[in-house]
Amino acid sequence: MSEEGKGPFRNTQHLLRMAGIFAVGILMFVVARAVLVPEGFGKYGHYRAPAIDDNAAKPLSFAGRAACAECHADVVEARAASKHARIGCEACHGALSKHAADPTKAKATKPVAATLCPVCHELNVARPKTIKQVNSAEHSGGEGCDSCHAPHAPEL
Ligand code: HEC
Ligand code: HEC
Ligand code: HEC
Ligand code: HEC
Repeated sequence: MSEEGKGPFRNTQHLLRMAGIFAVGILMFVVARAVLVPEGFGKYGHYRAPAIDDNAAKPLSFAGRAACAECHADVVEARAASKHARIGCEACHGALSKHAADPTKAKATKPVAATLCPVCHELNVARPKTIKQVNSAEHSGGEGCDSCHAPHAPEL
């Protein structure tokens, strides 16, 4: 038996080896963290700060109803007293920022009422009761919804 095999310090080699393994582990963690954590992380909490710039640089798809109103004031007026007045134009017309920027280059098309209206009004138990619902086939008798309802002011 060697000298260090006796007395209160007989296990120091085990402890030193373990401490060495911990030191290597901590070093690896510090290096990996420096390599992997992206720039700007932590500036606003647990978040990569430049992600805000990345998203802001993406092209816009929706123009917003204020933009539509500049050229289609007649439609805004037609909707004013209707229950549809609160619905954004692009909820029915789709994303139209290109059309709003230059209507001669990007034409907008008219939505087809027969397929559009049931998206929000078809009977569906999961839908809030405040949105009136109909069984399209029974209710319309196969006619397009816009032969009786004006899309921008659908109340009869
Ligand atoms: C800069 C002015 C301008 C803006 C902003 C604009 N439009 Fe238009 N829009 C036009 C013009 C001009 C036409 C073509 C009219 C025509 O050909 O009779 C048109 C046509 C349309 C049509 C087709 C009409 C048809 O008879 O086929 C729809 C639908 C429409 N716009 C919806 C929208 C919506 C929704 C928005 C907002 C996202 C919008 N527009 C923003 C000028 C504009
Ligand atoms: C509830 C769905 C809905 C909403 C909301 C809506 N529209 Fe429409 N819009 C339609 C449908 C459906 C047509 C096609 C009507 C047709 O075929 O004659 C249409 C037609 C149009 C047209 C063509 C001309 C006309 O009057 O028929 C324009 C322009 C237009 N919408 C602009 C707008 C604008 C601007 C807004 C927001 C202020 C808006 N729409 C909101 C459903 C909607
Ligand atoms: C994007 C969803 C959406 C689409 C698409 C839509 N609606 Fe609506 N509609 C609504 C909401 C929401 C209300 C109720 C608003 C309220 O009560 O304040 C409503 C109200 C109505 C009402 C009045 C019901 C009442 O309380 O008297 C009628 C009628 C109607 N819509 C018919 C139509 C027709 C016809 C179309 C197709 C041209 C259509 N809607 C397309 C969301 C939609
Ligand atoms: C033949 C004419 C006609 C057609 C086509 C038609 N409707 Fe109606 N709709 C009516 C009448 C009339 C009312 C009001 C009386 C009532 O509440 O039943 C009404 C009421 C509604 C209401 C309000 C229901 C309520 O509980 O207050 C909604 C929503 C509606 N229609 C959606 C649609 C949709 C979506 C379509 C197309 C699938 C459509 N309508 C096609 C005549 C029509």
